[in-house]
Order: sequence, then structure tokens, then C-alpha cells
Amino acid sequence: MADRILLIGMMGAGKSSVGRLVAARLTWAHLDSDERIQKRTGRTVPQIFAERGEAAFRAEEAQVLAEAVTGSEPCVVSVAGGAVLSADNRRLLRSGGLVVWLRAELPTLATRVGRAEGRPLLNRDPLEDLTRLYTERRPLYQDLADVAIDVDHISPSDVADKVVAAHHAHRVRAAQRDGAGA
Ligand code: S3P
Repeated sequence: MADRILLIGMMGAGKSSVGRLVAARLTWAHLDSDERIQKRTGRTVPQIFAERGEAAFRAEEAQVLAEAVTGSEPCVVSVAGGAVLSADNRRLLRSGGLVVWLRAELPTLATRVGRAEGRPLLNRDPLEDLTRLYTERRPLYQDLADVAIDVDHISPSDVADKVVAAHHAHRVRAAQRDGAGA
């Protein structure tokens, strides 16, 4: 399997910016699932939700994810927050590389999404919507993650350092396992 880091977590956790930084540090490719969908469809995420509905968006998301985890190049994937809702996606992620959960508390997420422009699942009261979504998703992120990094009080650059360190530790463990089995 190609080297791959899969960043999961809620919207506002910093998956896109941290993904870019980690990819630059490792000189790997970076794939952001929302960006890829927008490129493929020529529509923004809110446009897809408005014109074709959430189910159509989720179908695009599943396709992009399947492509992302079968590529042969080392890659950091910023996985959009809702992708973990699908059992098929969870299976892909589990077998696709090192899964890193950028874990943030609700007040952090609410501050970062601000007025939630461009986020079709958030309405007039983003904190209320985030609370509802996080209640459903938190156990999924928790279950899926090989590593969780608390991002509340640290900069994206420091989060990126921790992701890179987790990747190196994972490699060392894998090499030890292979050595022990040889
Ligand atoms: C969503 C997260 C968004 C985007 C869409 C739905 C979700 O991506 O895919 O608005 O269901 O959590 P980010 O997590 O990159 O913000």
C-alpha cells in the first residue's frame, strides 16, 4: 500500500490547512475531498447540495474517496467531515492508510466556522448544528482513528508537526512488526 495519511474530523477542525502543511513537509501529494469534488463537477459544495441534494453529494464524496485510497503515490487526504457516516467509506479509510483524527471541542469548531458561509449543513445557529452533528459523529471518528490530535489550542503548523511525528512513529512500529515477523 502507498504511504497515505487520512485526516478526519469535523468541519472547522483544520483538515484542509493541516493537510496542505503535512503534504509540503513530507513532499507528498495533497488531496482535499471537497476540492476534488468541486473540480470534477464544476460546482461548489453548496451548489451541489442545493441543486442535487445531500445524497448526490455523498455519492460524489464516496467516489473521490475510493480514488484517493487506491492511488499509488504517497498522499495526504483531507477527508470531508461527513464522509465517516458511510460504512463503505469507513472501510476504505480503515484500509487506506494512517487515520488521524483532528479532534476539536465544540466551541473551537463554532469559532472557526464563524457564520458558516459555504457550509450547507449549518444554519442560523452553527453551534446547535455542530453539536447535533458531533454527537452522531464523534464515536465514528473515535472508532476509526489510529491517532487523535487535540487541536484546540495549537496552531495548524504545530498540528502538522504532530501529524508528521505520528506518521514516523507509525512507520517505526510497522518496521518493527515486519522485522519481528521475518
Ligand atoms: C460536511 C463537511 C464539509 C463539506 C460539506 C459537508 C459534513 O467539508 O463536505 O459541507 O457533513 O461535515 P469539511 O469537513 O471539509 O468542512
